[in-house]
Amino acid sequence: MNFQLIHFDAIDSTNREAADRARNGADEGITIVADEQTAGRGRQGRNWISHKGDGAYFSTILRPSIEPRHFPLVQLMAAVAVHDALLELDIKSDIKWPNDILVSDKKICGILSEMIDALSAPAVVVGIGINLRNADVEMNATSIEIESGQQIGRDDLIARVQTQLGKRYIVFLADPVSILEEWSQRSSYAEGKEVKVDLGQNEMFTGTTCGLEENGALRVRVTGGSVRIVQAGDVTRLRRV
Ligand code: BTN
Repeated sequence: MNFQLIHFDAIDSTNREAADRARNGADEGITIVADEQTAGRGRQGRNWISHKGDGAYFSTILRPSIEPRHFPLVQLMAAVAVHDALLELDIKSDIKWPNDILVSDKKICGILSEMIDALSAPAVVVGIGINLRNADVEMNATSIEIESGQQIGRDDLIARVQTQLGKRYIVFLADPVSILEEWSQRSSYAEGKEVKVDLGQNEMFTGTTCGLEENGALRVRVTGGSVRIVQAGDVTRLRRV
C-alpha cells in the first residue's frame, strides 16, 4: 500500500479529519498525523489525551475490498501490526480484546477503527495512538520510554507500524479470517482468561474467554453458564486477591 502522510501541528482528532476526507473520496493510504490532538477520540466515546510530543497520533484510511462482515477484523489486523512493530524495538506486548496494546498489563497503545459509509466506497479509518513518553500512570498507562528507556522518534515509529500494516494488509485482503489466528497467537486474552466484561449501561458479567468468532467478536463462557458473544464492550482481566 502507498501511505501518504499529511501532517498537522495541532488538530481536534486525526480520526475526524481522516473520516471527513474518506467521505469525500480520499484515497486508501492517506494518513493524518498530528503533533497534538485537542479532542482525541477513544473507544466507547471516551477521550484520548494527546499532549504534544507525548505520543504518535495518526489515522489511516483503508478501503479493503472484502465482504462487509469482515470489516470488524480490520481492528485486529491493526493491533497485530502495532504489536509486531513494538517487537522490532524489543518491546514484548499483549493484545487485550479487541485492540488495546499492553505492556506489563499497562496500556501503551489504543486503536480506534471507524467504519465510514461513503457513497463512493466504504472505508475504515484506523486511528492509532501510541504513548512515546509521559503516560498517565493513574490510568494504568505506560509508554515506550517508561518500558524500555528508548527515545524512539515519532516518525520512525509510524514508519515501522506502517510497514507492518502494509505487509499484513496484503495477506488480509486475500484471506481476512486468517488474522484471527495471528491475533490469537499474540493475545493472552484469546483463550482461558478470566475477565470482567462491561457492555455499558450497567450491564456486566464475568467469565472466561474462549476464542473469537469469525467476525472478531470475543467468546466468553459466563461463570457457571453459557457462552456469550461480545461484539463491543470493555474487557478487563480479573485479578485474584
Ligand atoms: C482507545 O480508546 O483505546 C482508542 C484510542 C485511539 C486514539 C487514537 S490517537 C489517533 C487517532 N485519532 C483519534 O482521535 N483517536 C485515535
